[in-house]
Amino acid sequence: MTAPKKLFIKTYGCQMNVYDSERMAEALADQGYQETQTADDADMILLNTCHIREKAAEKIYSELGRLKPLKALNPDLKIGVAGCVAQAEGAEIMRRQPAVDLVVGPQSYHRLAEMEQQVRSGKSALDTDFPEEDKFEHLKSRPKAARAPAAFLTVQEGCDKFCAFCVVPYTRGAEVSRPATRVIEEARQLVDRGVREITLLGQNVNAYHGAGAHKDLTLAELIWELSEINGLERIRFTTSHPNDMQDDLIEAHRSCAKLMPYLHLPVQSGSDHILKRMNRSHTAQSYLELIERIRAARPDIMLSGDFIVGFPEETDADFQATLRLIEQVKYGYAYSFKYSTRPGTPAAERGQIDDAIANDRLAQIQALITRHQREIQESMVGRELSVLIEKPGRLAGQMVGKSEYLHAVHIDACSAAVGDIVRVRATEAKSNSLAALLV
Ligand code: SAH
Ligand code: SF4
Ligand code: F3S
Repeated sequence: MTAPKKLFIKTYGCQMNVYDSERMAEALADQGYQETQTADDADMILLNTCHIREKAAEKIYSELGRLKPLKALNPDLKIGVAGCVAQAEGAEIMRRQPAVDLVVGPQSYHRLAEMEQQVRSGKSALDTDFPEEDKFEHLKSRPKAARAPAAFLTVQEGCDKFCAFCVVPYTRGAEVSRPATRVIEEARQLVDRGVREITLLGQNVNAYHGAGAHKDLTLAELIWELSEINGLERIRFTTSHPNDMQDDLIEAHRSCAKLMPYLHLPVQSGSDHILKRMNRSHTAQSYLELIERIRAARPDIMLSGDFIVGFPEETDADFQATLRLIEQVKYGYAYSFKYSTRPGTPAAERGQIDDAIANDRLAQIQALITRHQREIQESMVGRELSVLIEKPGRLAGQMVGKSEYLHAVHIDACSAAVGDIVRVRATEAKSNSLAALLV
């Protein structure tokens, strides 16, 4: 028997790339590849890339420059670029870095095995089409190996919202929902392999509408169906758009016990002028009213969000409105980014604001978000939480997992095993996690 070839995948960007990387590894396992944790001994290196901000995309070229010398050490080494940079830049990647053998866009992963054979025969391979067929249907079913207890499952991909700053509609294409029947089947396979928590993924996941056995299901209806699966204990979903937050989904947060009390609901800005210029089609007020309704249904829900500062034309008054909105919502987690010009998006044509001002706003917003984050984390101390154990901790006898609110929790003297869901009492808030003891 020949020794297995080794595959090293490095994943950048959002959770959808994490999911896709797993699927690509599964597809290449059929070609005799085994995953390895270092680039040094790999026969195939795949960078699964992100194009959301300029820095993210440029990082790929410096990484490729670092990887190139490995080809001199291993003549069999092939280097591939997948993900959103592959989609956005296509053949340009091979021109800029000739060491790249393969470029595959996010909608073409089902062709990866074929492309691998092509590069093994000495040719290069490029596929950035948006094919008619559904890649998910061509990727094989999930493997039998035992898995981590928490898994991602893509249910919807692409976006039709065209926010003025964002590349996703171009890199991932139009919004497409997978049939609910297939999602439920894949969820069952995951649960059979030991998964207890599933996070449903989509760029715009709450716009989900996929064919069920009798009719199209909304995201809430899909969640209710999934909650019937024995052994599946926790359901999450991300990322949601405020405009697609329907009543049935809010209702599920009230009454579906398996749906975790956590919601990532990006608003981007607290200024109506900027929201309009971003093409977000919601206002700060409509967003706040929505939050109110969600909190009425599920008072303890942990909210998280995304913000962009320094968007073209953003004045100090606009920025103050964003800070006010954050004060009003008080997020358990929030991610803030300095606006990055993306070629081909409408906002790229507009005048940029001064970089020093944008940096200053970023520092201010991050300080406020961090303060809230810390306060909320500290408010957990003394409370009883439920934790899904994910792995052993660094200290002897310690286990690490996630609370229902997605806080990382370290449990000392913990007799529970990976995959168990235990009740704990939080004893201390550390910088990025909670310490707790079993109750
Ligand atoms: N689908 C999700 C977000 C996808 S991108 C949604 O609609 O909310 C994740 C985050 O990256 C966005 O929420 C936004 O805050 C940020 N982002 C997107 N494009 C950006 C850009 N050009 N510059 C800076 N941040 C950006
Ligand atoms: Fe990008 Fe807007 Fe679509 Fe989110 S909703 S992926 S920010 S275009
Ligand atoms: Fe990045 Fe593509 Fe995800 S641009 S954030 S990897 S959808």
